[in-house]
Amino acid sequence: MEFVTYEQDGFVGIITINRPKALNALNSQVLEELDAAFSAVDLDKTRAVILTGAGEKSFVAGADIGEMSTLTKAEGEAFGKKGNDIFRKIETFPIPVIAAVNGFALGGGCEISMSCDIRICSENAVFGQPEVGLGITPGFGGTQRLARIVGVGMAKQLIYSARNIKAEEAKRIGLVNEVYPLEELLPAAKKLAGIIAANAPIAVRNCKKAINEGLDADMDDAIVIEEKLFGDCFETEDQKAGMGNFLEKDKEKKLKVVPFQNK
Ligand code: CAA
Repeated sequence: MEFVTYEQDGFVGIITINRPKALNALNSQVLEELDAAFSAVDLDKTRAVILTGAGEKSFVAGADIGEMSTLTKAEGEAFGKKGNDIFRKIETFPIPVIAAVNGFALGGGCEISMSCDIRICSENAVFGQPEVGLGITPGFGGTQRLARIVGVGMAKQLIYSARNIKAEEAKRIGLVNEVYPLEELLPAAKKLAGIIAANAPIAVRNCKKAINEGLDADMDDAIVIEEKLFGDCFETEDQKAGMGNFLEKDKEKKLKVVPFQNK
């Protein structure tokens, strides 16, 4: 792949968008390579994925404006679908995905970070949906996910005004969970991914599914989704070992030794 790299670090996969000359902007090729990179993650060996950008300036500076500039209406819609399909794949990826936002996260960059489970960023990060200044709407899920994450009023203000915000403001409005000096960002992402990876993998996957699917349902249906996924954990090696270790007061063992078991 030309623009996306993959590194395996124990149970953690690191996917890096590597097109620094264009500040990691998302053209069709980058989107296709991202799709391929997620498809290639070995889910039997990986318990969390970190998504980041190459270089020290930009996570992703948006969809590629050069590529979009000559699109017809139909081509624009198809380009939106291309981005939405891969971002939805990230959002519903079976294991947690952490966005380590190392600089500009504008337009499609903010949108791809919002398709991840957790966002942390560097002090130089800048978030925004500048699309209306370019004569378009956000097209890779921004009109939907920003409102769900920061609330409707704040999302509308940011999108209608096309105003970019810095890391601390992004934290204040709940768009990111934590801000780090740039050099500490990837270590912090790896530490968080490692903590997640040390927990019971089936349970973590089921939590992701329960939270995501429950948010799209009303409460009566949502709690049934939870009950099903809660029940699903029983009789697994994770559950037997996790509870057994607790009852035997062997907390040292915890779950670290339990390999992932496909259901
Ligand atoms: N698409 C294509 N190329 C981009 C790009 C983008 N979104 N963002 C940056 N680049 C390119 C620049 O054209 C430039 O290339 P050249 O060196 O060949 O000229 C290179 O990256 C470096 O960029 P700048 O010289 O502009 O760097 P800067 O430090 O002066 O500014 C910036 C950085 C503020 C991020 C500025 O590049 C910028 O505003 N970029 C566009 C951001 C944007 O509007 N993103 C939203 C795109 S629309 C979208 O994403 C739609 C959607 O929802 C799907």
